[in-house]
Amino acid sequence: MPTMRAALLAMKPYTPGVLIPGKIKLASNENPLGPSPLAMKAYADTITRLHQYPDAGITHLRDALSTHFNLPANHFSIGNGLDEVLVTIAAAFIETGSKVIVGKHTFSEYRFASNLLGAEVIAVPMPNLLFDVDAILSAVDKNTSAIFLCSPNNPTGSLVPRKDLERLLTKVPQSTLVVIDAAYSEFVDDPEELGYPFEKQLLARFSNVLLLHTFSKIYGLAGLRIGYAMGEPKLIEALERARSPFNVNLAAQEAGVAALGDFEFVQRSKQNNHDQKLVLYKAFTALGLEYLPTQSNFICIETHRDAMAVFRAISDGGVTIRPLVSFGLNTSIRVSIGTPEQNQVFLKALEKALQVVPVIV
Ligand SMILES: Cc1ncc(COP(=O)(O)O)c(C=O)c1O
Repeated sequence: MPTMRAALLAMKPYTPGVLIPGKIKLASNENPLGPSPLAMKAYADTITRLHQYPDAGITHLRDALSTHFNLPANHFSIGNGLDEVLVTIAAAFIETGSKVIVGKHTFSEYRFASNLLGAEVIAVPMPNLLFDVDAILSAVDKNTSAIFLCSPNNPTGSLVPRKDLERLLTKVPQSTLVVIDAAYSEFVDDPEELGYPFEKQLLARFSNVLLLHTFSKIYGLAGLRIGYAMGEPKLIEALERARSPFNVNLAAQEAGVAALGDFEFVQRSKQNNHDQKLVLYKAFTALGLEYLPTQSNFICIETHRDAMAVFRAISDGGVTIRPLVSFGLNTSIRVSIGTPEQNQVFLKALEKALQVVPVIV
């Protein structure tokens, strides 16, 4: 019988957000307003062409990204969601036996992709739940193939401050790839810290950087699976070699183009997120709860209770959220910012959960 590769034995399966029919889902940082309306129309328009393979070069969407960022199209590689892009990055740049640096409390798929390729993953501590640039720099050696940063970080919602990012990039060897996962960048309050044009400046200054973006959050297209990496053409060429030819399906390619142009929807999504985060902050303060101010579309809350028990109690109240046990935070939960109505149901369920689940002393 064929034997499984040894690298797979140590890998833990992904813990997804729970979808329970009839309950509100605030567990996966999706867009609570639904998909971009322009994307829905473009998606529907593709149904008579589904007998054809999609464009292997993803030309239309790449060109649209090129216009969007005012960067040549050879700066973009697109995948079936960022999850796939991460595996493509690993296939292109991470050698078996090399070292990869991640944060201790961050998105799990950096570890997954690196382990898949047989790399050794070093999880650097995050004091106060923030990326520690000095600790990362001291973990880097000549065998380090990649560093994965997440900004804003999932699940904390905190940014890697611009000055820290620049310091890290100035000191890291040029041979080490630095991946900055900016899946939630559109929700950042201060555009000086992340987003256009800062991202373009970063790419112009550092040729070892890949910036990651997704259509799953601000554009409401998580179900279609579209994510992309931006970087120097040499890095992108490597990703294009490693990517499979028809990885982004025809409907996703067309819907992605339309979503990029749906400025009204993007604005509405940002506004709801901004307004509702203030509503939630106020309610958490009234409940005496500690939370981390967020630059994203979710909030991390310290409950001082067993997070799994809090999750179950909130679920009984009609809402699924994310217990952060799989992120190494046993008493914290993460809630995605919903519509005004969803948030009110959540707050009711949360208040009840805090009454029934005992505080851990
Ligand atoms: C930080 C981060 N990166 C990447 C992803 C995956 O994005 P995609 O839906 O494009 O695969 C997520 C999903 O929640 C995420 O939180």
